[in-house]
Amino acid sequence: MAPSLLSADFARLIDDVRRVEAAGVELLHLDVMDGHFVPNISFGVPVIEKLRPATELFFDVHLMITDPLKYAEPFIKAGSDLLTFHIEVTKEPMRVIEHIRSLGARVGITLNPGTDASAITGVIQAVDLVLVMSVWPGFGGQKFIESSIGKLEAIRPMLRPNQRLEIDGGIGPETVRAAAQAGADTLVAGSAVFGRPDPAKAVETLAALAVKP
Ligand code: DX5
Ligand code: ZN
Repeated sequence: MAPSLLSADFARLIDDVRRVEAAGVELLHLDVMDGHFVPNISFGVPVIEKLRPATELFFDVHLMITDPLKYAEPFIKAGSDLLTFHIEVTKEPMRVIEHIRSLGARVGITLNPGTDASAITGVIQAVDLVLVMSVWPGFGGQKFIESSIGKLEAIRPMLRPNQRLEIDGGIGPETVRAAAQAGADTLVAGSAVFGRPDPAKAVETLAALAVKP
């Protein structure tokens, strides 16, 4: 499971991070929004910088911003382990991938619900992770878009075993198993974790449901 901090208590972020770390998650999903690529603003470099010394969790940073080339460096310097950018924001995805790698981070590519899997086939071999958005990015707590299952199934065979397939949006007890069975190995959940009274228990419940038969 990959808890998304977007639904955490922003006044007590470190407490919420430690709660899910204790539950055994290996990575933390951090949603960066610029109010331009998506109609919302979340947090940026200073928050990631302050969280970095507080946890050993892998920082999976989801950049919902129009200019990843410009901002990759400060986000990596702040302690991001992996930066995921949107295919919709650039005509030169290889340039962005190479830039992020040259700064020493891992790189992911993501696509909106309205973008076909074919949009990323040219660069899929060059990334560490593919993120399928199962809601329109910008807000937590939205309903899972069912066609995302077919997209996961289409992308999975294109990936090598060491490349991750992540799903983000509307993941909860009703959707987590189908997403895992369709090939997602990194399951982002915001409201289904931090919107619950006991986030650690919510993580354990979701992880148990995600186990493939
Ligand atoms: C949405 C973000 C998600 C968000 C998911 O734009 O990318 O990571 O936190 O929230 P839930 O799990 O509540 O759908
Ligand atoms: Zn996200």
